[in-house]
Amino acid sequence: MPYYSDEIVEEVRTRTDIVDVISQYVNLQKKGSQYFGLCPFHNEKTGSFSVSPGKQMYYCFGCGAGGNVYSFLMAYNNMTFKEAIEELAPKCGVTLPQREMTYQEKRQADRRSRLFEINKEAAGYYYKMLRSPEGQKAMDYFTGRELSAETMHKFGLGCTSKYSDSLYKYLRSKGYEDEILKDCGLITIDEKRGGHDKFWNRAMFPIFDANGKVVAFGGRVMGDGEPKYLNSPETEIFNKSRTLFGLYFARKTRREQFILCEGYMDVISLHQAGFDNAVASLGTALTEGHAGMLKRYVKDVYLSYDSDGAGQKAALRAIPILKNAGISCRIINMSPYKDPDEFIKALGAEEYEKRIQNAENSFIYQIRMLEKNYDLTDPEKKSDFQKEVARMIVLEFPTQLERENYTESVAARFNIPKDALAKYIIELGQSGITSKNKAQAKETRSNKPKPKDDGMKMSQRLLLTWLVEENGIYAKIKDFVGPDDFEDGVYKTVATEVFDCLNNSRPVDTAKLVDMFMEDEERKTVAALFNTTVGELTDNTDLSKALKETLLRIKKNSLELAQKNGADLKSLVDGKKQLQRIERAGFIL
Ligand code: CTP
Ligand code: MN
Repeated sequence: MPYYSDEIVEEVRTRTDIVDVISQYVNLQKKGSQYFGLCPFHNEKTGSFSVSPGKQMYYCFGCGAGGNVYSFLMAYNNMTFKEAIEELAPKCGVTLPQREMTYQEKRQADRRSRLFEINKEAAGYYYKMLRSPEGQKAMDYFTGRELSAETMHKFGLGCTSKYSDSLYKYLRSKGYEDEILKDCGLITIDEKRGGHDKFWNRAMFPIFDANGKVVAFGGRVMGDGEPKYLNSPETEIFNKSRTLFGLYFARKTRREQFILCEGYMDVISLHQAGFDNAVASLGTALTEGHAGMLKRYVKDVYLSYDSDGAGQKAALRAIPILKNAGISCRIINMSPYKDPDEFIKALGAEEYEKRIQNAENSFIYQIRMLEKNYDLTDPEKKSDFQKEVARMIVLEFPTQLERENYTESVAARFNIPKDALAKYIIELGQSGITSKNKAQAKETRSNKPKPKDDGMKMSQRLLLTWLVEENGIYAKIKDFVGPDDFEDGVYKTVATEVFDCLNNSRPVDTAKLVDMFMEDEERKTVAALFNTTVGELTDNTDLSKALKETLLRIKKNSLELAQKNGADLKSLVDGKKQLQRIERAGFIL
């Protein structure tokens, strides 16, 4: 059952300008009647993300993401429909009606907020326990790691009891049923053994989302033991690859960069030392999702990963992910200490600040790491290394300017004969290895999940886009093709609505059509329906031909389908006649 009536949903949507809303998140530039920008739903360097003020829809030609203003907020902020409308309504002066919900509705709609509540309850429970006699061991542990009471409070640190079902009992006593507890990430429900806590005898780190709500926990053994950290599994409210520990605090920093580290304790130590811009990915390597999150807040990131081999590897993996998201990064050198936490403890905040100032350009870092794999005393290996450096420069940098600048500094830094390096780079450039940017652009074009499409659907989409953009075409085609000629499902539903509007001389409100569908995939399909282009055709005779061919394909296909499905003879004969009439007709545009 929908929460709000169609009228209200429509009113909020029409009073809102999609361009205003999306501009808060994406840098948009006007080109003709559309706005374009970098798609927030996939990594790209050229803007294939379009927002149409006329249609009040967005659509990405690269990845197929699309929809109306509600779909955007839902996808971008990970909101439910209800949350999206509740965000927009007050801003456009619409008061949403309050009404009693049915039990069923409440259960469904409140699932997420119940999960938030449970995590919050748990955080409170753990927090109190840390500050009770039962939490003494954990308190000693945190104190031993030099955390102040203030820091422990700020990060909401806590601990679990020695018993393996105390949180479970507590949550039950608060009225939460097994049915929801089994999905909160903190409790295992076993048919025979009953409910048990996932975390016990651990020091607990609550994980906040960007809005400061607890969505998960990390739990550390106090002392040695395996696993060292245990984390909540993913739940309806916890998506690991989009969550950054410390983000809630870091987003308020006045610094222009974030410090990205590996661990809970690194983030906490850094904040305690005054670096309020530290964040970490949690028990997982950095993902594109994380990079996308970071990009919302900063353009530059300092990597402060562990200085050991594993940390270096992780940094080498993270650099291209960050760069692809359009973030430039530098690497903080922490040696001889293992991680920022240990560094700060040993040398203090001032020294760390110096290391930030001296952070290394990520490309130079990559080459320095590469260099370690070669025995430079052997002239052959040495040449191999230098050739590889040249290749990397060509692949990484598209412009002559960058290539020359990097050639100069790399040659000096790594003792490579500069002129020879420059010459080799020019040769490589001419021999056709392309810079990463070009290669990537190609890849994006061929690999990205262009909505799976046979030519048939393409024709149907084309006709719908056409009808919406040039209503005049309707009169010319209505005798030949109807909604029944469209594919069952989204296509037919939308076609029916479009034909109905045009038949009654009502404007087609494409963004409204999106709200006829609840599923994300369906909403995307609708957005794609109205963003099909006729390619390069501009000449009117070409357009006429294209329209005729489009109609023919749609009609032939629907006839074939009708035949296959055993339609009655009369309708088949009628269809054939219509087809012949299309063939004979001229479509003057
Ligand atoms: N991690 C994890 N599970 C493990 C080990 C590590 O999820 N079994 C994650 C945690 O988020 C941890 C990060 O990886 O914070 C870094 O791990 P590591 O470098 O081993 O730990 P430290 O952060 O140095 O932790 P501590 O200082 O508490 O030893
Ligand atoms: Mn550590």
